[in-house]
Amino acid sequence: MHSFGYRLNGLLTFSVTILAIMCAMASLSDNLNTASPSAEIQVTNINRFQKQPQGNDEVSLTMNISADLQTLFTWNTKQLFVFVAAEYKTPENSLNQVSLWDAIIPAKEHAKFWIQTSNKYRFIDQGNNLRGKEFNLTLHWHVMPKTGKMFADKIVLTGYSFPEEYR
Ligand SMILES: *[C@@H]1O[C@H](CO)[C@@H](O)[C@H](O)[C@H]1NC(C)=O
Ligand SMILES: *[C@@H]1O[C@H](CO)[C@@H](O)[C@H](O)[C@H]1NC(C)=O
Repeated sequence: MHSFGYRLNGLLTFSVTILAIMCAMASLSDNLNTASPSAEIQVTNINRFQKQPQGNDEVSLTMNISADLQTLFTWNTKQLFVFVAAEYKTPENSLNQVSLWDAIIPAKEHAKFWIQTSNKYRFIDQGNNLRGKEFNLTLHWHVMPKTGKMFADKIVLTGYSFPEEYR
């Protein structure tokens, strides 16, 4: 006859195995989900565009960020971390990436949104390269699942440029 302890142990092992299989199936079925996120960002105003006393360009801008990230949500999605970065090239760096705004999206209902916002984080160049500079605005997201691996992707929006003169 099995002791109580032995049976309890057997039961635990069984439940843990079932749980592991369920988790594996969850992340597998998650990968089969094809998402079709979309995003659009308008720069609605350049609020300030100046060279700081230290010689670095600083810009403050207002954006209208609209996105539909609802298809990124599955029953296995805990939340999304999203951020918008300005990306541009300078003679010193092949890629400059400046984070302008970010948010945590806790549920599918909130994954289709638009927000008019000025940059939440300061946009300062490492130099004074921004006059007339072309840049991209990239919406990055990290999908944090309930179980399984986190994954990240982005939408690159092109064709923005800074004014030729400080203002
Ligand atoms: C922002 O963009 C969305 C979608 O294009 C639009 O519906 C909304 O009216 C815009 N908001 C502002 C303040 O421009
Ligand atoms: C913007 O993104 C496009 C597409 O990824 C890329 O080819 C281009 O070099 C980028 N432009 C800048 C200024 O970073």
